[in-house]
Parts: sequence; C-alpha cells; structure tokens
Amino acid sequence: MFPTSSFDGAPDLSLMAKARAGFHGPWGLGINQVIKGMGGPEYIASILTGYTGHEKEEAGTTFYENTAFPGGWIAMAPPLEDDLVEFRDGHEADVHHMSQDVSAFLMWAAEPKMTARKETGFLVFVFLVFLASLLYLTNKKLWAPHKYKD
Ligand code: HEM
Repeated sequence: MFPTSSFDGAPDLSLMAKARAGFHGPWGLGINQVIKGMGGPEYIASILTGYTGHEKEEAGTTFYENTAFPGGWIAMAPPLEDDLVEFRDGHEADVHHMSQDVSAFLMWAAEPKMTARKETGFLVFVFLVFLASLLYLTNKKLWAPHKYKD
C-alpha cells in the first residue's frame, strides 16, 4: 500500500492499474487482456495526457476537462507538467513520456509478479502441448495392433 494520500479526495493508487482495467473484449471474454495487457495503465496514461486546459467550478469544486475521464470532467488538477523529472537514459521529460512511465510503475505496483507469472504460465502451456502430443502418439501406438485389422 502507498501511504494514504494527503490530497483531498484523491484515491489510493496502489491497485488503480488493475481497478481500472480497460480491455474486456471481445464479447466480454477478456482475450484482449492476454494480447494487449489489462488496459489499466493505458487508461491512467490517457487521463494524465487527456487534459484540454478547460476548467469549471461547480459547488465549490474545480473540475478540469479531460477527454479520457468518464463524464469529461475530473476533480484532479493536471498533476504533470514538462520537465518535472530527469530520465537517466536521456528521454525527453515531457508529459507524454512521464505519464507512460508513472502508469507502467503503477501497473508494477498493482501486480509486481505479473511478468514472472505470465512467463511461468507460458512454459506450463508449452509443456502441456508437448505432453498432449506425447499422449496422443502413445495412444495411437497402443491401439494400432487392434485397429484396422482387416
Ligand atoms: C502522477 C501523479 C498522479 C497520478 C498517476 C494520478 C492518477 C489518478 C487516477 C488514475 C485517478 C482515478 C481516475 C478514475 O477514477 O478513473 C485519480 C483521481 C484523482 N486524483 Fe490523481 N493522480 C496523480 C496525482 C494527483 C495529485 C497530486 C492530486 C491532488 C493534488 C490528485 C487528486 C486526485 C483527485 C481529487 C481524484 C478524484 C477525481 C474525481 O473523481 O473526479 N491526483 N488520480
């Protein structure tokens, strides 16, 4: 868990990348998540880069227009501006790159072992295909003398 936010109304971001999973299709099967990832970090990056610059005040709260936020207006002021950090590899520290960086970090924070889990899963899958082929061939060989006799 991250320390509780001291900002008014700001949500806990520990699991935000999973909580806002964006890819559910096709037809709710979730296959897109296997191919493209969860869609949570993409959503966060879109929020961080989706500000149009317009703002309005309603019932004492300032809302900022954001093309990625459902409803179009978010209560979070744009948290990023150019050159807030310095990337060691010399990447340009514009909002676009910083948003991708912080979103990737939040995905890692939400599920630090995801890559290892997926790699193991892939190996298990390869092994099962191999085992299934062996079993198929064994089965064929065992039954061969009894089949197609005439
Ligand atoms: C790079 C840093 C930050 C990131 C990645 C970030 C990300 C997010 C995300 C993903 C949401 C949820 C949007 C949703 O409900 O779908 C959110 C909401 C919010 N954040 Fe941030 N945030 C950051 C910094 C801040 C800061 C510094 C503040 C306060 C000064 C803040 C205040 C809020 C508030 C008030 C909301 C609720 C917005 C609403 O429901 O209308 N955030 N933030």
